[in-house]
Amino acid sequence: MYGSDSINDDSERTAFRKTEKKYKLYYDSSSKSSKKKKQPRPVDLSEVIDFKAISESFDRNGDLRAGVSKLECPFDRPVFCLDDCPGFYFIPAALSIEEQCRWIKESLMSFPQPPNRTNHNAIYGAIHNLFNAAKNRQVLVKDETAPAEDDSVSVDINSQNHSWACLEELDSSVNGDSCKSVSASVLLRKLRWSTLGLQFDWSKRSYNVSLPHNKIPDALCQLAKKMAAPAMAVGEEFQPEAAIVNYFGSGDMLGGHLDDMEADWSKPIVSMSLGCKAIFLLGGKSRNDEPLAMFLRSGDIVLMSGEARERFHGVPRIFTDTEHAEIGFLEKQFSDEDDSFYLEYVKTSRININIRQVF
Ligand code: OGA
Ligand code: MN
Repeated sequence: MYGSDSINDDSERTAFRKTEKKYKLYYDSSSKSSKKKKQPRPVDLSEVIDFKAISESFDRNGDLRAGVSKLECPFDRPVFCLDDCPGFYFIPAALSIEEQCRWIKESLMSFPQPPNRTNHNAIYGAIHNLFNAAKNRQVLVKDETAPAEDDSVSVDINSQNHSWACLEELDSSVNGDSCKSVSASVLLRKLRWSTLGLQFDWSKRSYNVSLPHNKIPDALCQLAKKMAAPAMAVGEEFQPEAAIVNYFGSGDMLGGHLDDMEADWSKPIVSMSLGCKAIFLLGGKSRNDEPLAMFLRSGDIVLMSGEARERFHGVPRIFTDTEHAEIGFLEKQFSDEDDSFYLEYVKTSRININIRQVF
């Protein structure tokens, strides 16, 4: 009980937790009771490593700040490493704006489609076309004629609950009974993850190879192989087998964790950032090690391989305010009327696609 583990994990006293709290979104309590719009508590960002600035300064005069190196590799974009963190690679602006838009659209339209699972499966079963249903202001309605719901459904991820179906919003069967219906736009806003390729079972924290799944889409597979190259041994090719897509809204965070369910940690996790800017914390092998904070912008790619995979990491903050979100170029790209629903989503969201070789 008094072992080192008891002060790790969820204790607020670890260095990781302390830094998470430093950057997390809090609202000033003084403004809570007033009628004024709640103001986010100001946060000191002066210690956050900014690879965009590092890259620009390197382009201008070849300067690099202490502790940061540029990888010598036959790769068409600058790749930066941290001298104290072998296996960690940062590729600023790795994705073009067109690529970013493509993967944002896919993340919302196709990646949550069955047989891929999402955080909604446990409660609602498989939901088809969530994004379009939200766009068309549809609601998900409980089908009273369906067989009674099995209580095990929320824990047994193998079972499928077919008793929810998408219907038009003002359908008479909805009848204003809010317990029996939920709007697709609320479900889209509450979408937190979807899984591609081999399906990850969060309750068991392992891959469940018996669950039905599609292969990682070919274009994403090719992109991940290309981007993983700086972290791969000569002559070896990354084999994308699974991906987790994380969806963040304002105030959402991803707590400090390790990704330890893959067999070979020498292989990288390829992690793409899309949408609003975020802060990423890269800790050490213990939660007691003070983490480094760095900005993640739309289009950035991070690789974590080898020793870097043993380091706690997380995302304590995303920025949805105009000054810090840095998504002006995406907003322009989504300014077509056809894309207005993407625009609304992206203004207050971040998406992270992280691609893994499982075996
Ligand atoms: C993860 C993860 C980082 C990010 O999903 O395991 O570490 O940038 N994501 O969202
Ligand atoms: Mn992770």
